[in-house]
Amino acid sequence: MDTRPNSPEGRDIRYHLHGYTNARKHQESGPLVIEKGDGIYVEDVAGNRYIEAMAGLWSVAVGFSEKRLVDAATRQMSKLPYYHDFGSKSHSPLIDLAERLVQMAPVPMSKAYFTNSGSEANDTAMKMIWYRSNALGHPARKKIISRKRGYHGVTIAAASLTGLPNNHLSFDLPIANVLHTSTPHYWREAAPGESEEQFSSRLAVDLEKLILAEGPETIAAFFGEPIMGAGGVIVPPAGYWEKIQAVLSKYDILLVADEVICGFGRTGEMFGSQTFGIRPDIMVLSKQISSSYLPISALLINERVFEPIADESDRIGTFGHGFTGGGHPVAAAVALENLKLIEERDLVGNARAVGARLQARLRRLASHPLVGEVRGVGLIAAVELVADKAGKAPWGKPGALGALVNGLLQQNGVISRNMGDAIAFCPPLIITEAQIDTLVDAFDRSLAAALPQVRAQD
Ligand SMILES: Cc1ncc(COP(=O)(O)O)c(C=O)c1O
Repeated sequence: MDTRPNSPEGRDIRYHLHGYTNARKHQESGPLVIEKGDGIYVEDVAGNRYIEAMAGLWSVAVGFSEKRLVDAATRQMSKLPYYHDFGSKSHSPLIDLAERLVQMAPVPMSKAYFTNSGSEANDTAMKMIWYRSNALGHPARKKIISRKRGYHGVTIAAASLTGLPNNHLSFDLPIANVLHTSTPHYWREAAPGESEEQFSSRLAVDLEKLILAEGPETIAAFFGEPIMGAGGVIVPPAGYWEKIQAVLSKYDILLVADEVICGFGRTGEMFGSQTFGIRPDIMVLSKQISSSYLPISALLINERVFEPIADESDRIGTFGHGFTGGGHPVAAAVALENLKLIEERDLVGNARAVGARLQARLRRLASHPLVGEVRGVGLIAAVELVADKAGKAPWGKPGALGALVNGLLQQNGVISRNMGDAIAFCPPLIITEAQIDTLVDAFDRSLAAALPQVRAQD
């Protein structure tokens, strides 16, 4: 690190509080300052080039140098740089995007609603659900069920839905009316001898017990990611979504699919809901919608959700919710161009084909002494590291081995992310098979470098 006080690193330490960072440690270790992007690569201020194996934050589908998105932004910026949708105002990029998203949805949807981030979209979904319950004359129906290790963002309601301790500790969260049910992680949570189907059935029973204990008339909705992302890339076991949806329909509970990571091709289908046979009432979309070139997110709601909301807004006089930047014309124009690129270049097909190579190459590492589980679908995967394979035990403090290997991987030219001891891979959807090989080779070398250090401290 350049330690001079006027270097980018020095000024970052002096002036910037980072998200998801130990602020005290950061004062010593400083930032990795990224200067530019090129395809699946980014380059730091010292000129080191990295494969961005997380697509930024699971989001840059088309890579880091897509001129067509820059041109789309420039065109829209010159024509109409800002407008909003309050009080029945609208504009073409927003109308085009709303139509496009509703038509793309894998189940019948009625309307799109625009927000700026995944967190805002999930907060909005929760408010819509409460509003709807009141509209339907069910004021007691306000509780929301999400899952331990689920991730739905960081604003007050979204962080409450998130089922990870770091998002609750010292924030006085979760808020009331949010309940967390079991994590569908077969490798870690299944009982000895239990099949995937049996494990899924047990989780559906857990969910039903929770609903009955709370009172079905008090439960409004269930939120879930098709694949859990930030919780460690947890791929649901066989039968899971079918069995969960059977319980939800039995008690007339709405289903919200948080497609913020899975949406727009990540799993090798346009939406994770297609990969897992999910039939949501609300879909939450963000990240790959614009390849994160500009912030934008959206909710798709079906008629069951829209109709009561429309009635209630008529009774009150307005739907009293909206964001200044919601459906921003420049972000919407970039999203439209990005969706066009995903289609033209068949990036969903690429996620399926090249994703198969990523999954196969990672699975070849399953016998490595430090590898506990390899999991993933399409172009999203994680390798969970252990020091003791049979006991699935970590190396000292949970997360220590993940941090070690993640650091080595960065030295080997790959930016990944360790969620505890799970190293995640979620590269841009434009990645090629040859680039997958380079990525996995670097990971292989990082595991090899970590092994003697782990053995020395066993
Ligand atoms: C599934 C999911 N939902 C919601 C969010 C929150 O999105 P944002 O960071 O844009 O608020 C994320 C972010 O990673 C996510 O992965």
